Amino acid sequence: MKKIFPITNGLHGEIKIPGDKSVSHRAVMISSLADKTVEIENFLFGADCLSTVDCMKKMGVDIKISNEKIFVTGRGLHGLCEPSEILDAGNSGTTLRLLLGLTAAQNFFAVFTGDKSLSKRPLARVIKPLSEMGAEIFCRNENKNLPAAVLPKKNLRAINYKMPVASAQVKSAIIFAALYADSVTKIIEPYPSRNHTEKMLSAFGVKIETADNEIKIFPAEKLIAPEKIIVPGDISSAAYWIVLASILKNSEVVIKNVGVNETRTGIIDVMKKMGAKIKFLNVTESGGEKSADIKISSSELHGIEFGGEFIPRLIDEIPALAVAAAFAEGTTIIKNVGELRVKESDRLSAIVEEFNKISPNSFEADADSLIIHGGRKKFFAECKTNSDHRMAMALSIFGAAAEGVLIDDEDCVKISYPNFFKFFDE
Ligand code: S3P
Repeated sequence: MKKIFPITNGLHGEIKIPGDKSVSHRAVMISSLADKTVEIENFLFGADCLSTVDCMKKMGVDIKISNEKIFVTGRGLHGLCEPSEILDAGNSGTTLRLLLGLTAAQNFFAVFTGDKSLSKRPLARVIKPLSEMGAEIFCRNENKNLPAAVLPKKNLRAINYKMPVASAQVKSAIIFAALYADSVTKIIEPYPSRNHTEKMLSAFGVKIETADNEIKIFPAEKLIAPEKIIVPGDISSAAYWIVLASILKNSEVVIKNVGVNETRTGIIDVMKKMGAKIKFLNVTESGGEKSADIKISSSELHGIEFGGEFIPRLIDEIPALAVAAAFAEGTTIIKNVGELRVKESDRLSAIVEEFNKISPNSFEADADSLIIHGGRKKFFAECKTNSDHRMAMALSIFGAAAEGVLIDDEDCVKISYPNFFKFFDE
């Protein structure tokens, strides 16, 4: 249990956030397929990324952790070993789905498991395209849920695949398999989702062409590793402070070194449309990924309506944005967010259930939309996280900006932001 008290004097100074979760996963997976030691700086030592480290080690990759850095010595594109143990993805959808794509193309047998939440999350969306490529993957419950068994394969076929949902995890699973396919694989997304896999593989010498919503992946012969990968700060973790600094009076903060890849900055665009005062300072670039310091000052927010192409660019930030909307004037309507029902928890139901305890009659959802009535009265409340890290953090900032909150599970934040509560305890 964790009690968060109201913050009465605003947010000030500089905030340092942990490394990006999506980039950290990919840095370990992709370095594992090259053939020299890669140093990964600012790696996120969160439980999800450590699940990836554990799975890659079980496939024979030498990974050492020293002085908050991680060193991955790859085994080459064809050097992974058959794991003698079950690969446990824990709570991590990214570990599971991306590694299903990678192992689908290996000439060995692999079995995946995960925690209670991951065991319920949909897998058919990755199994379908991978099966079209010739992979053989079998799961429980008519191929829907974990555990999953991946059979050995020598060759995969290239496909042209039109994705029904914009999902970076599904896209990346296909991209990993496509590295081993017999010709060029083409993926078409309904809207662009995060493109860290494409950017990092390009930095490792793989030929990938992107235009609008289309990605072409050429089969790879070899991955050429850089000496070092610098992981930018995670904009999904910065989101809590971007929202909190905007809604608390007398705030002015700078969040240092935040990844501002354009496929991830939907939160900035939407907050600005709501009236937030946000500026990028000191923009830099490393390995194709842009970073910036983000300056945020208090503002008067107003409700807006958005959906469609914005959604994949801010999918993990919707719980935080719902908090911003509760402090905005007027109503906010967020459309096309049915995907929130299949995240670490059913976040649409959780927002309605738990956020309404803090601000009654403010949150409504239907199958695919979220409606937030801003400016209603807020109270102290006891809320459930359903062991979902992003719900725990969104509830915490909601309480901090309102009358305080008691959450039932603080440990779940270790998935993406192990030091999150240090901010409230200092
Ligand atoms: C992720 C993609 C998104 C996101 C998740 C991380 C990734 O999931 O919600 O937290 O690293 O590829 P979907 O691909 O299911 O939208």
